[in-house]
Amino acid sequence: MSTAPDPPARAVRISDLARWREAGQRFAMLTAYDAPTARLLEAAGIPVLLVGDSVADAVLGRSGTVGVTLEEMVHHTAAVARGTERALVVADLPFGSYQVTVEDGMRAALRLVGQGGAHAVKAEGAQVELCARLVRAGVPFMGHVGLTPQAVHQLGGYRVQGRDAQAAQRLQREAQELAEAGAFAVVLEAVPAALAAEITAALPVPTIGIGAGAGCDAQVLVTHDLLGLGSGPAPRFVKAYADLAGVITDAATRFREDVARGEFPDAEHAYD
Ligand code: KIV
Repeated sequence: MSTAPDPPARAVRISDLARWREAGQRFAMLTAYDAPTARLLEAAGIPVLLVGDSVADAVLGRSGTVGVTLEEMVHHTAAVARGTERALVVADLPFGSYQVTVEDGMRAALRLVGQGGAHAVKAEGAQVELCARLVRAGVPFMGHVGLTPQAVHQLGGYRVQGRDAQAAQRLQREAQELAEAGAFAVVLEAVPAALAAEITAALPVPTIGIGAGAGCDAQVLVTHDLLGLGSGPAPRFVKAYADLAGVITDAATRFREDVARGEFPDAEHAYD
């Protein structure tokens, strides 16, 4: 039975993730887009925070991640970095920042680290050369294969990947090549649980699953989904651990009613 690793009192390093995997300790990653939420997640012992391009739908009101810009990613990464002291902050390379040339990707990643304060970057797909170049430049790289939302139009929607033998082999190969190129971890998104477990067993680095079953070394969720703040129907793999949408709506409704009745502010909340 796996125990959750105690996050160290110092800054979390990529070597901690490798150590936890070796010890069979499953760790958790959550997305964060702002300083106060990042502070709370760190206080809850979440060792890795992902400034995901999911900021687009979770926070910025877009549908899908394709429209988010590098400027926006730097802005949110800097907020998360300011809100944390120990968590490993990983920032997503947004759509369009790395697909044309490896040099573009290098420059974008260096901005996320240099200006945003990220400790590592993540990119979607088989970005093997970019991964190798960044690692050589001293920037830790997290891979992401399976359902890669930036490629939603090519994939024909948000659907489970790797269902047939050929697609499964391709996923295995991509994950392996990223690990060989120096990725310190690989996200597996929307992959059948048995395939994810196979990839995990074969890979020399931790896998982080989202919709990929319990056989991964770690799990990630979008924090807004975890907190019950998501908009629209959630995918099957999401488990809401709270209903913050209900809490917020209830608080705002009670405030509106108190104001209407003249009950807010009362004497306690006013200056003499
Ligand atoms: O942007 C994001 O939130 C992600 C996770 C779903 C892994 O990439």
